Parts: sequence; structure tokens; C-alpha cells
Amino acid sequence: MFTAAMAAGLTAAGRFMFPNVLTEPPSTFTAGFPDDFAIGVVDTRFKERYQVWIVRDEVGIYALSTICTHLGCTPNWLEAESKFKCPCHGSGFYASGINFEGPAPRPLERVGVSLAEDGQVLIDKSRLFKFEAGQWSDPASFLSLT
Ligand code: FES
Repeated sequence: MFTAAMAAGLTAAGRFMFPNVLTEPPSTFTAGFPDDFAIGVVDTRFKERYQVWIVRDEVGIYALSTICTHLGCTPNWLEAESKFKCPCHGSGFYASGINFEGPAPRPLERVGVSLAEDGQVLIDKSRLFKFEAGQWSDPASFLSLT
């Protein structure tokens, strides 16, 4: 009985010494080469792990945060309707991130994007760019490919 109690105590002490740690994905990651992204396509591959959509248009590449600017739910990309639609209260956003329906008060935020040394698209989620603050014209908010 005493031995069992000691073992339980040691186990509890051991767990205290090595607390559970939540691992989150890094804020920066490489997403592949620019040519991996087709023009006019919203790439949803990074939504689950990194909470970003990557979009290539005629000018270049930008990355959108998947956090709805209403109350923080995660919208879905509806390919057939060419829009992001938030399941919580119905806000809609164009592929550009601009809001056009529902209660969201402002566009989705963009995150940092640049070219890594190896030529891949480098996403930096630690940098956020707000359209309403004029920050989408910041060269760090898009990767020009023209
Ligand atoms: S949280 Fe997206 S519409 Fe409310």
C-alpha cells in the first residue's frame, strides 16, 4: 500500500516536472514555389494547419487570414460562388478578402508574404495587414510577380 502511494506520488511529481505543452504551427512557413499556385485560384491547403488561404491573381500572391472580422469564426471558401462565406452569421468576402455581405465590418486581414532564399513563397503570420488602414499597399503584404 505504501509503495503504491509512493509510486502515485512520484508519478504526480514527475508530471509536474514535465508539464503538457501545446505545440502550435510556426508563424512563418514556406508554401511552395510561385508556379505551384494557379492564377485565380484560392488555395485552401493551408487553412487547417496555418489558418491562411493563399491566392494568386494576375499581379502576384497574397495570403488571407481565415479569421472572420465579425466575431472570429472561420469562413469557408465556396468555389462555385467565388466567395468566402462565414457559417456563423453569414458574412461574405470576395477572393480579395473584401467584405460584401453580412455583419463583418471590414475585410479579412492579409498576412506577410515574400520570397524565401530558396525561391519558395514565404508566409509570415506574425505580420498582419488591414485594408482599411491602407496596409494592403505595403510591399510586405503581397508578392509581386509582374
Ligand atoms: S463571425 Fe463571421 S459572420 Fe459572425
